[in-house]
Amino acid sequence: MGHLHPVPNPLPIPISIAVPLILLFLGASSPVLASSDDQTACGSLEINKIADLRKLQNCTHVVGHVRLAYVDLTDVSGNYSLDSLASNVTEISDYLMVYRCTGLISLQSIFPRLRIIRGQELLFDQYSLVVYENRNLRELGLVELLRIQSGFIRVESNPLLCFVETVDWIYLMGNATRQHFSLKHNRPQSQCPLCGSLSADFEFIRNSSERCWNVNTTQLRPQPPRLKDCPIACGLNGCDSAGKCCDHNCVTGCYSQNCSLCANYQGRMGCVNQCVASYELNKRRCIGHRECRELGRIPLIRGYQCVKKCPGNQKEILVAKGIIHCQVECNGDFHVKSAADLEVLQDCVTINGSLTIELTNIKEKIVDALENALASVKEITGYLKVIHSAQLMSLTFLQNLDAIRGDKLVENKYALYVVNNYHLEHIWPPNHLVIIQRGTLFFHLNPRLCYEKIHQLQGSLKSGENISVADVSPNSNGERVICGDAVRSLNPKVEDLNSTAVRIILDYMDWEGMETLIGYSYHYKEAPVQNVTMYDGRHGCGHDNWLMDVVPNQSRRHVISGLKPYTQYAYFVKTLTRTEYHIQIDAYSKIGYFQTLPDRPSPVLRIYGSSEISSQILLHWWPPRRPNGVIKNYFVTAEKYNATKEAKDKNYVNVELENAKDIDCECAGVLPYYSGPQPDDEDYYNKEQITYEDALPNLIYVSRNHDYRRKEFEKVINYEHLLSIKKDEEPTRPPTTTPAPTNATLAKERLAAINYENYRLNSEKKQRDLQDLDQHKYTIRHALPKCQNSHASVVQQVEEKCVAEEPLSGYELPGTQHFYCLSQLEPETHYRITIRACVEGVVNGCSTPAEAVIKTASIQLERFIKGV
Ligand SMILES: *[C@@H]1O[C@H](CO)[C@@H](O)[C@H](O)[C@H]1NC(C)=O
Ligand SMILES: *[C@@H]1O[C@H](CO)[C@@H](O)[C@H](O)[C@H]1NC(C)=O
Ligand SMILES: *[C@@H]1O[C@H](CO)[C@@H](O)[C@H](O)[C@H]1NC(C)=O
Ligand SMILES: *[C@@H]1O[C@H](CO)[C@@H](O)[C@H](O)[C@H]1NC(C)=O
Ligand SMILES: *[C@@H]1O[C@H](CO)[C@@H](O)[C@H](O)[C@H]1NC(C)=O
Ligand SMILES: *[C@@H]1O[C@H](CO)[C@@H](O)[C@H](O)[C@H]1NC(C)=O
Ligand SMILES: *[C@@H]1O[C@H](CO)[C@@H](O)[C@H](O)[C@H]1NC(C)=O
Ligand SMILES: *[C@@H]1O[C@H](CO)[C@@H](O)[C@H](O)[C@H]1NC(C)=O
Ligand SMILES: *[C@@H]1O[C@H](CO)[C@@H](O)[C@H](O)[C@H]1NC(C)=O
Ligand SMILES: *[C@@H]1O[C@H](CO)[C@@H](O)[C@H](O)[C@H]1NC(C)=O
Ligand SMILES: *[C@@H]1O[C@H](CO)[C@@H](O)[C@H](O)[C@H]1NC(C)=O
Repeated sequence: MGHLHPVPNPLPIPISIAVPLILLFLGASSPVLASSDDQTACGSLEINKIADLRKLQNCTHVVGHVRLAYVDLTDVSGNYSLDSLASNVTEISDYLMVYRCTGLISLQSIFPRLRIIRGQELLFDQYSLVVYENRNLRELGLVELLRIQSGFIRVESNPLLCFVETVDWIYLMGNATRQHFSLKHNRPQSQCPLCGSLSADFEFIRNSSERCWNVNTTQLRPQPPRLKDCPIACGLNGCDSAGKCCDHNCVTGCYSQNCSLCANYQGRMGCVNQCVASYELNKRRCIGHRECRELGRIPLIRGYQCVKKCPGNQKEILVAKGIIHCQVECNGDFHVKSAADLEVLQDCVTINGSLTIELTNIKEKIVDALENALASVKEITGYLKVIHSAQLMSLTFLQNLDAIRGDKLVENKYALYVVNNYHLEHIWPPNHLVIIQRGTLFFHLNPRLCYEKIHQLQGSLKSGENISVADVSPNSNGERVICGDAVRSLNPKVEDLNSTAVRIILDYMDWEGMETLIGYSYHYKEAPVQNVTMYDGRHGCGHDNWLMDVVPNQSRRHVISGLKPYTQYAYFVKTLTRTEYHIQIDAYSKIGYFQTLPDRPSPVLRIYGSSEISSQILLHWWPPRRPNGVIKNYFVTAEKYNATKEAKDKNYVNVELENAKDIDCECAGVLPYYSGPQPDDEDYYNKEQITYEDALPNLIYVSRNHDYRRKEFEKVINYEHLLSIKKDEEPTRPPTTTPAPTNATLAKERLAAINYENYRLNSEKKQRDLQDLDQHKYTIRHALPKCQNSHASVVQQVEEKCVAEEPLSGYELPGTQHFYCLSQLEPETHYRITIRACVEGVVNGCSTPAEAVIKTASIQLERFIKGV
């Protein structure tokens, strides 16, 4: 009995989520959707026991997903025969998950006719096929499967599972550039039978090009009319005899016009990528308005879908002759406490009633959801109330709100009622006027919202009523920030940068500012488009997708490192100031942008090669995971390779070298220096968050306990006092040289003023020096330039401070091409293939080579394939 080995990091989050999800759906019987699309479309199916398989009975296509989890088929011989389990499902629009089923030997017993998994919606937003931890599964047996159009494939930790590597997954994929497959911890291939054989100890490379789902069943791979000598743009799709590229959108043939199975949608004129000016039916067809009506369904204007009943907050409206329309209706008073409450507000343009936002659960990350759900709201007929929402920094999530009508008011008086929002700093988006037709304002206990900002709303009150101190208190709003002119402007500039680091320099902080300045915090995040605002993704309670460097010193320079090459970032700087009298005088800079320089790419991700013609190897590869710039070229080399005995024993189709062996190990050969941190790495953001959470309290702790000793000269009381203590700073010019004073007092003051000015300049200079300390610490390392002489010796390179350009060999291909056909090779010979990706504008900007060893087919095999 095979047992499950503990597998390192298997589907990390997924499983813990999957279980409750599955339980949630337990018992929910699957409705057969339509009387329309061949009577046989089903909704998503959750299968948790044998009896649930009945749900598949009348289905030919599943509109949604199929999840088999914890199904026990061990005593299938009892009331259910294996044959009776076989379903007629040919299509699954979303994904197929098979998880922890026992007694399941082959999926062939359930899905003998499955032809396509479209992956329109994915499991955990990623996967379209997951077969995971099924202890008795011996083969996949999806014998009719032709295409997995989208999404990743994960076949893992099925201890007895064979015939995984014998499937041509690349062939199945809709777009091999975008999809990945991970096959791990299944039965070792060496212990598995080969295609067409019954025992494992079969001879090395026998019928190697054969691909199968089990011993008896060859993988179906309909061949295009022509594969050879097609235009290069056809790639692996082949072409027809006239040389016209085959349409990849047709799964079963070359022509989309008369195709029997479309990869995406079946339109009137053939296969299409999406429905245009027509309505989507069952995620597989595009039909016209009338057709949809004839099916007794409703054509939805938004989203262009042909549905059975109105979704979400859309109401059925009966128009003439029993025809139903769906209309978004947002009537009533809405109270948003969590993201779940937003569903009914989705797409509302007018809220016929009032809106109350009360986000008391500070742990829920909700600001993005608010932005999405309320984006189209233009008008609220009642009032808007925002209370106890510590997460909000602004009300800009109502980005299109034009008017609050105030038909209904809080306490018969207030149309906009904003109370106790600890982090609220702004109200509406800049330059956006929200008219308040009736009623007035009530703002209290918003400690970071400046009174002036509230007062500016006076102009939008149609009632003309003056805002009263009782309704909007200057004492309970904005008392935690310095409002008005006191906020200093920082003026950060990018002084230097390379591919992973940037040096930012600020203007000198002025004298007064230095008094309370502890340091700065630098906030930055990736920003492909220059439309970031400071409040995007910032949530009052630290759920913050800006990364942050806290720098507890007064230097005006800072180097942000660990950036991704060739990436645009947005950044801003904020002061860290000592807290005095509960007043925090923090200055923010405006948002700026910079783009890091390009760098060497990471290696080509995976090389896949096959040889069906003995003189050729058809290569296919995935571009580098981190291109770090614009990939200009690929360089492909091939040389004969003397396969060792050992390698022969291990593999029989593809012999891959160490660094390309593990399908999932994408990091092999990637130097951290070239890769930079990955936001999709687990803990990447967390790490930053921890740094921040550790650093900040420390900082504050230190500053409170550190005796902030003011030097003597800082305790200046007045000019007289200044003169008395700063004798050494008196001007060298003796007082007697001043013109004879006519008014002694005036002269004295004038003198004092001059002295003070000198003193100020002097101490300002000191302060400036303090801000310029240790400049050498903030250098940015740059790559050396290319040597004039391309054959420069090492000594020359050192002397001239340059690097010699490394020579590149092999076939040079454009960076947009991800396949190549090697020809004029010898039959039945191992070739060592290397592929390097090269980035434009970087000296020696080519990745380390990715390698694979691939054997050409034998002449016999070629003949066999050609059917000669
Ligand atoms: C399948 O169709 C048959 C005959 O139309 C019907 O009796 C049966 O209940 C259907 N099964 C399901 C699961 O809908
Ligand atoms: C599948 O279809 C065939 C014929 O179309 C029918 O005889 C059979 O009962 C169907 N199987 C299931 C499980 O519905
Ligand atoms: C088989 O069917 C019988 C009677 O219909 C029932 O009592 C029994 O529990 C069933 N066994 C299983 C394993 O479902
Ligand atoms: C495959 O995906 C890549 C990356 O998203 C895209 O550039 C390319 O056009 C796609 N190819 C096809 C055939 O859809
Ligand atoms: C495998 O190839 C051999 C010749 O190399 C051929 O005789 C045999 O029929 C092939 N087997 C199958 C199942 O195609
Ligand atoms: C394969 O075919 C043989 C003979 O044709 C048959 O005995 C065997 O059961 C089949 N095996 C499978 C897994 O279908
Ligand atoms: C499909 O259409 C193409 C041309 O559009 C034609 O050459 C081909 O024979 C047709 N195939 C079938 C099965 O009708
Ligand atoms: C910025 O622009 C991008 C692309 O145009 C868009 O997806 C994104 O939502 C925009 N962000 C903001 C905050 O406007
Ligand atoms: C391959 O290597 C083996 C030993 O490692 C050697 O005997 C043989 O001559 C080599 N073949 C070629 C073609 O270099
Ligand atoms: C000296 O200046 C003061 C005001 O600064 C003025 O009151 C006083 O009259 C002036 N005295 C003379 C003698 O000019
Ligand atoms: C960029 O400069 C930083 C700071 O000097 C340095 O640590 C880093 O290695 C440099 N990156 C590259 C790719 O040279």
